[in-house]
Amino acid sequence: MTQTIGLTLKIWRQKLPDAKGSFETYDAADISVDMSFLEMLDVVNERLTLDGRDPIAFDHDCREGICGACGSVVNGRPHGHVAATTLCQLHMRHFKDGQTIVIEPWRSKAFPVIKDLVVDRSPLDKIIQAGGYISVTTGGAQEANTIPVPIEQNKKAMDAATCIGCGACVAACPNSSAMLFIGASVSHLALLPQGKPEAARRVLSMVRQMDELGFGNCSNETECQAECPKEISITNIACLNREFIRAGLFSTEE
Ligand code: SF4
Ligand code: FES
Repeated sequence: MTQTIGLTLKIWRQKLPDAKGSFETYDAADISVDMSFLEMLDVVNERLTLDGRDPIAFDHDCREGICGACGSVVNGRPHGHVAATTLCQLHMRHFKDGQTIVIEPWRSKAFPVIKDLVVDRSPLDKIIQAGGYISVTTGGAQEANTIPVPIEQNKKAMDAATCIGCGACVAACPNSSAMLFIGASVSHLALLPQGKPEAARRVLSMVRQMDELGFGNCSNETECQAECPKEISITNIACLNREFIRAGLFSTEE
């Protein structure tokens, strides 16, 4: 028989971006421990809808931990308390019967609340648009595969490339810094031969965009690394700083 638990949920409700929000309390009875956190919210929403009440708005898409769309602060932890897990992959078996769960949106000036648990994460898209890509021609797959990449360098680049752009690092940082997110993109591309021709322009442009959008700087709190569902290492921030200094010293890019 499926094990179920009962929960008390304190959820941030906010009708509009400029409306005053507040916590509302809901009883969530008979929640299967096999459900994901988002499936639990689906059940709560179904019950609210049947009662003629406004369902809770929350972001989601793949529900497989790969798209970066989901994310809320659960009992003070972005994506909840289970390491290396997105909210959509967090299962209710990690909670206790009778537990109270506080659910809030990402708290960052750079991510304004749109509604309830949904925030505007388009600033991360703008940072990527500033340089998180390559525009050099690499040719077809066979040509690209003839470029040798040392295995350790390749592994570091692929680890950095697992960033899903969820924004938990920003939500976890006391400075609302996006440097783990940018570091992942900059080092992923700077480590590969195809990313090197545009490395200086990329890092200068992405850091400038980050500053203009109001994100803070890194002060080595390491909260970002602790809360990142993809375990992106802060060594990528060191790589970002190295690339930034190198671009400032040796490049003619501005
Ligand atoms: S670095 Fe981690 S926490 Fe930050 S956006 Fe990427 S996956 Fe999310
Ligand atoms: S819904 Fe895609 S990562 Fe959670």
